[in-house]
Amino acid sequence: MQSILITGGAGFIGSHVVRLFVKQYPDCRIVNLDKLTYAGNLENLRDIEDAPNYVFEKGDIVDAEAMFALFEKYQFDGVIHLAAESHVDRSIANPMEFIHTNLVGTVNLLNAARHFWKDISGKRFYHISTDEVYGSLGDEGLFTETTAYDPRSPYSAAKASSDHFVRAWHHTYGLPVVISNCSNNYGPNQFPEKLLPLFINNIINSKPLPVYGKGENVRDWLYVIDHARAIDLIYHKGQIGETYNIGGHNEWKNIDLIKVLCKIMDQKLSREAGTSEKLITYVKDRAGHDMRYAIDASKIQEELGWKPSLQFEEGLSKTIDWYLANKAWMDNVTSGEYQNYYTEQYEKR
Ligand code: NAD
Ligand code: DAU
Repeated sequence: MQSILITGGAGFIGSHVVRLFVKQYPDCRIVNLDKLTYAGNLENLRDIEDAPNYVFEKGDIVDAEAMFALFEKYQFDGVIHLAAESHVDRSIANPMEFIHTNLVGTVNLLNAARHFWKDISGKRFYHISTDEVYGSLGDEGLFTETTAYDPRSPYSAAKASSDHFVRAWHHTYGLPVVISNCSNNYGPNQFPEKLLPLFINNIINSKPLPVYGKGENVRDWLYVIDHARAIDLIYHKGQIGETYNIGGHNEWKNIDLIKVLCKIMDQKLSREAGTSEKLITYVKDRAGHDMRYAIDASKIQEELGWKPSLQFEEGLSKTIDWYLANKAWMDNVTSGEYQNYYTEQYEKR
């Protein structure tokens, strides 16, 4: 039986990737390694937790010995590495955590793979990265796979460094690696510190919607299951040593997106038109806030035949419906450490 290690599988994107692999590859053992930080939640995987080809291991990628022991135990054929600290605001408040997990944790996994993969045939180390490594765009242009790296937040600097280390292990030691850099994901199970689930939750509870700066920053949004489909394709068909950009061809200025969200939320909650928009509150801008991200995803489209399957209107509507139907999930994940963090951050603004 083939074994694949998926790190960060209890998080937002990771849980969708684990579910897809567990269902699609019943003859392959899927090991989900996750530290279960504030962002990791096994509730995200309740529907597949009893599948015979699924195993959960609690562990920390920063712990090199534990990673070696894990490789020894399961003799992995492949790694899909998603575990990370993922929130830019938290990286501004506490950069060291990001350096430990995103950089040191990644190098620990590279070392373990290199040690155990004496024979590299059929092996693959797939590192999941972000478009934020490319920096910030002006009004025109798109990030391609050859855009020079220019990370500008502690989060993106740590992710960019980890990308460099992954490539270094390929060039120096011949480790069979592949990397993808994706734009902003949205969908079910996203932790409500990120823009869309935070604002959905706040609208439900009639709380202020904190728009950073003037709300003019632009992001390129992709439905999370389309990202998971791309990951499946790249893991199985991507060329070793290559990088693939993944994006939604779906750019939105934050304030425009927020206004659309407010309108749909009013309809879904049967509130008078304009009710949610009144919650918009302009707050101090994020430090070093990147202005615009936009991905040129033509390489993955041309070489691997991938493109987003969902129109944004449909994806947004499905996403809102999920959060409305899963209030218990929201209450659960916002009941602990996050609640304190959020309250503190909000009060500072
Ligand atoms: P997330 O914060 O929802 O989940 C991260 C997961 O990693 C959590 O389950 C957490 O418990 C786990 N984790 C954190 N530190 C760990 C450690 N030291 N050891 C083991 N597990 C640990 O993140 P996400 O949004 O699902 O992002 C997943 C990956 O995709 C990240 O690498 C991120 O950089 C990348 N990415 C995210 C987006 C996005 O829009 N969310 C876009 C592009 C790339
Ligand atoms: O581009 C990919 C990246 O997208 C991923 O690598 C990151 O892991 C992911 O968190 C995301 O980063 P962003 O910083 O773009 O996402 P976030 O949801 O935090 O913010 C989206 C935009 O909304 C950004 O311009 C900041 C703004 N914002 C965000 C929050 C949380 C607000 O105006 N108010 C808010 O309260």
